[in-house]
Amino acid sequence: MNDKELIMLAHEACKKSYAPYSGFHVGAALLAADGSVFSGCNIENASYGATNCAERTAIFKAVSEGIRNFSKIAVVASDGSTAYPCGICLQVMNEFMPEAEILLEEDGEIKSYQLKELLPKGFIL
Ligand code: THU
Repeated sequence: MNDKELIMLAHEACKKSYAPYSGFHVGAALLAADGSVFSGCNIENASYGATNCAERTAIFKAVSEGIRNFSKIAVVASDGSTAYPCGICLQVMNEFMPEAEILLEEDGEIKSYQLKELLPKGFIL
């Protein structure tokens, strides 16, 4: 699974986004160490705080299936903007994939970040 393929799977997941309130559709594709891929989309709610981001949908799907080792996650938005993960998603990534790589689209190109760049001092217990 190369970076371009993972980004394309994130775009596929984005098509399933449920975002009637913001109109901002996000997709994620999470690559596990065993080569399996978990996709996720944002799922909004009339009670806005109940919304789940695309990244957390993908991570929670994987963890609930017993998969906890990940190598990278691709995150895209349908409008072509760069979908930088929110603080809550970064914190969830810090829990399960602190060494992971995050693939984003910037100006139509794939840009790779280390989680530590986006969350230099994540909370740990
Ligand atoms: N969103 C994500 O899916 N991932 C992020 O990291 C940031 C925000 C979603 C949540 C909400 O449905 C919409 O984008 C607008 O905030």
